Amino acid sequence: MAVAIIAVPYGSPDYYQALALRHLYLRQPLGLSFTPEEEAEDQCACHVVAKVNDRVIGCVLGVEKEGWIKIRQMVVEREWQRRGIGSQLLQTIEGLFKDRGRTAFFLHARHHSLEFYRRNGYQPIGALFYEVGILHQRMEKHLSLPEGRI
Ligand SMILES: CC(C)(COP(=O)(O)OP(=O)(O)OC[C@H]1O[C@@H](n2cnc3c(N)ncnc32)[C@H](O)[C@@H]1OP(=O)(O)O)[C@@H](O)C(=O)NCCC(=O)NCCS
Repeated sequence: MAVAIIAVPYGSPDYYQALALRHLYLRQPLGLSFTPEEEAEDQCACHVVAKVNDRVIGCVLGVEKEGWIKIRQMVVEREWQRRGIGSQLLQTIEGLFKDRGRTAFFLHARHHSLEFYRRNGYQPIGALFYEVGILHQRMEKHLSLPEGRI
């Protein structure tokens, strides 16, 4: 079945499907909800989803933070994992920011997903730390722009 990887606007039906997926995988298992700060951040973020027919089966977002792009809220539905969809989501969102001249990316990786991000070119920086009650690792990636672009 064909998987489409597309950017979607904040507030669109695809955005709300992605939000439900994020809640199901990243917040509900921890007994948490999205904070008002996270909800506000969503409004100025760039959202990319993976769709099969009309159903969102994966998502990620990127948001500007002090000169960096922070990658957040990466999810692929369990039955679609290990087929390269997470990597395609990452490459697509990185490409959208690269087109705007942005090349410095960071994220807070849950410890169980370190290998996934490492395979996608992210390097661990500093010590492990706790966030939402889970051990995390800061990871960074720097892209290069084509010759002649600043
Ligand atoms: C992390 C996640 C997004 C990866 O998505 P995915 O579509 O399965 O990733 P890919 O298929 O592109 O994986 C690429 C490579 O990353 C590595 N990888 C992916 N998932 C892995 C896992 N669970 N354990 C070890 N390595 C993994 C593998 O090397 C994989 O290549 P391979 O399948 O050829 O061995 C997905 O597992 C997920 O949604 N997890 C639950 C939510 C979550 O924890 N999100 C991350 C929050 S920081």
